[in-house]
Amino acid sequence: MAFQGVKGTRDFYPDVMRLRNWISDAWRRVSLRNGFEEYDSPIFEYLDLFTAKSGQEIAEQLFSLTDRGGRNLAIRPEITPALARMVNARINALPRPIKWFSVPRLCRAENPQKGRLREFFQWNIDIIGSDDVLADAECVFVAVDFLREVGLSPTEVQVRIGSRPLTVAALRGCGVGDDAIDKALAVLDKRAKISDQEFLDAARKIGMDDAQVQAIMRFQDCAGVAELRRAVAGAEGAGEACDKLERLMACLQAMGAGDYCTLDLRVVRGLAYYTGVVYEVFDTGQDLRAIAGGGRYDNLLAVLGGPQVGATGFGMGDVVLGILLEERGKLPETLKAASLDVFVIDDRPELAELVFQTVGALRRAGRAADFSYKRQNVGKQLKEANKRGARQAVIIKSADLVALKDLATGEQAEMSMTEFQEKYCSLVPKP
Ligand code: HAM
Repeated sequence: MAFQGVKGTRDFYPDVMRLRNWISDAWRRVSLRNGFEEYDSPIFEYLDLFTAKSGQEIAEQLFSLTDRGGRNLAIRPEITPALARMVNARINALPRPIKWFSVPRLCRAENPQKGRLREFFQWNIDIIGSDDVLADAECVFVAVDFLREVGLSPTEVQVRIGSRPLTVAALRGCGVGDDAIDKALAVLDKRAKISDQEFLDAARKIGMDDAQVQAIMRFQDCAGVAELRRAVAGAEGAGEACDKLERLMACLQAMGAGDYCTLDLRVVRGLAYYTGVVYEVFDTGQDLRAIAGGGRYDNLLAVLGGPQVGATGFGMGDVVLGILLEERGKLPETLKAASLDVFVIDDRPELAELVFQTVGALRRAGRAADFSYKRQNVGKQLKEANKRGARQAVIIKSADLVALKDLATGEQAEMSMTEFQEKYCSLVPKP
């Protein structure tokens, strides 16, 4: 019996690996140009780290194990608690604000479906050590900077921005008791993914009556900050939360990201640790699950044994993003095939030795060069060069003469071996 990969995992054959690398290269490029530094954490941690404050949903999706010493461990389903643990351990030594990014491989025991797998990669952008709404604005800006970088326009993707404190104020305002708030938030988070009837049933199940559901739906459907202010007028902390939302939208506008952002109080987020502004990135067709999600989590470091320090950030997975980029035709042609700078060919088998020498010289100079193991006619070697995605072929005609062929246009130019070596075999400057 042939072995199969585990349900919800992917094999990264070279064609798929090219896409993964292209996405993670763009994540890294955008992170660095926005002033973030890379970190990583272990792939498994003590189980408690992930059950402390992330909420019911993620706790149910943990891949957990007991090691030989009887310790309860879990494979990381997200990196945020590990980031908080790492920062807590060096809190006094790290200059703030801490602007860090990571691209961890994560595992969640989810029901595999379009856009959701059991193993995926997730870009994380976080700022720790600032209570300023500017830090939230900067994180959203980084997400937008990336979306623009990969060619997604504001008509194709939108960051939908909500507020946990305002949602909590609205729930309290319609009579939901403090003990039911977390459960109510979990139900509200599901609203966009289920039918109205299913939403109503889920709300009733946690003890909300129909009047409360109608009231909270009216709040969630508020279209602008002015309408929002009226809806939560008088509720504790609501004025300040409205001011923050307004400032956030103004900062994003000023940074040139405003057209990618919409206020949407239906965004609540599934994770339990969020305390402020929250947001999710969606394709505007709303055909797919969220591309990214994040927000402010000011209590997580303290819950995990550290000080009370402001923190904010987001995670973007590679799965939905990959589907969207493919569906919208945003992937570059170069991903379709492997690529080489040059393929070295001999005109006659006696020149094979010169092929190896030339390939060696090209590679030492930093060029991606390859050749055929088979000594065969020029036509067959050219065919192999094309299959390998080479941009140019060097045909060695004699010890003194080479022909350089552009494989896209078919144009060919002859030159002496010395001229060729001077031009192509001297060290390529590093970027
Ligand atoms: P999250 O909403 O659980 O947030 O995940 C963020 C993104 O990761 C999702 O929008 C999705 O793109 C991707 N993702 C999540 N689960 C899966 C899955 N099973 N398969 C494929 N992709 C998935 C967090 O993880 C937070 N820790 C993000 C954060 C960082 N908040 C603050 N800083």
